[in-house]
Amino acid sequence: MLADVIVDLQYGDCGKGKVANALCKKENYSHVIRYNGGCNAGHTIYNNGVKVVTHHIPCGVFHGIKSVIGPGCVLSPKLFFQELEELEKKVGNIRDLVKISTNTHVITDFHLAQDSKETKIGTTKRGNGPAYRDKYDRKGMRAEDIPELQPFLVDLHEELYSTSEDISILFEGAQGFGLDIDWGDYPFVTSSHCTVGGAILNGVSPKKIRNIWGVAKCYETYVGSKKHDGESEIFNTIRDIGQEFGSTTGRARQINWMNWNLIEKAININGVNKLVINKMDVLDEVSEWPMILDEEVYEFESRKDFEFWIEQSCSDMGIDNIFFSGDKEYI
Ligand code: IMP
Ligand code: MG
Repeated sequence: MLADVIVDLQYGDCGKGKVANALCKKENYSHVIRYNGGCNAGHTIYNNGVKVVTHHIPCGVFHGIKSVIGPGCVLSPKLFFQELEELEKKVGNIRDLVKISTNTHVITDFHLAQDSKETKIGTTKRGNGPAYRDKYDRKGMRAEDIPELQPFLVDLHEELYSTSEDISILFEGAQGFGLDIDWGDYPFVTSSHCTVGGAILNGVSPKKIRNIWGVAKCYETYVGSKKHDGESEIFNTIRDIGQEFGSTTGRARQINWMNWNLIEKAININGVNKLVINKMDVLDEVSEWPMILDEEVYEFESRKDFEFWIEQSCSDMGIDNIFFSGDKEYI
């Protein structure tokens, strides 16, 4: 058995979906497992030029790979079926590939109603926080308790360990390091574990992990109630060029320059060995290459200098490849 893990090093929306999709094309995975979050996530994926947005369902379904919603996630049956139908309209029959772990907790209508009134954090109102609260309060309901979910249920231990097949897993995450319940900017966080620790809660030993893909953007975006925007017109330009509007809620994302201290911390804590910096095409277009370091903004003269500085900074951090990407579909 082996597993690759994808983690987001900033505040979500860094292109994990793109990286997951690209890896599914290249590697021979037997399973893709979503390891945290719920339908608060929005992964925009371009597959052979066709745009699809997923919330609950892992991108393995676009490649004929079994796709499991793991026990680190919370799942709204209502929104799950809606998403399944919408995806099937675009890509045809995928339901035989979609699996839900029996012990995954469920987001109920009550959770959705409660979260819809939330104002302090600026949540996505998808019932995430209340569902995790009830899970840890031991009042939750699990997927195995819901009749409509029966056809999708899988005992993850049996699935991964009672087989003679080679098991090769891609762990697809949601949200990001800056939103992590433990390491993010509490209380402006989500309610799940967005680090590699969150992945191994889903039934796979840390000894099986091969690559840890850290995904970031060359600038920062954040959606939620705290102030995060930088003070310059240029951020409006970047928002437009980069289409930085939430794929789940449509909200305008706040924009700032890349904060290297956050990325460094996220690389260390996750043990990243493959780094992807996305959306390079956007800064190419505005021809500015700034970065925040110890709360100061530094301007690099060119993309080349920006990349060189990152490569140098990563040289002692256990990273064996860095990809600077400006493409919607490929790394
Ligand atoms: P919740 O996860 O809906 O409870 O929201 C908590 C915080 O995480 C809010 O600031 C949300 O905007 C943010 N958030 C949740 N999911 C995502 C995501 O997929 N991308 C970006 N931000 C997210
Ligand atoms: Mg997103």
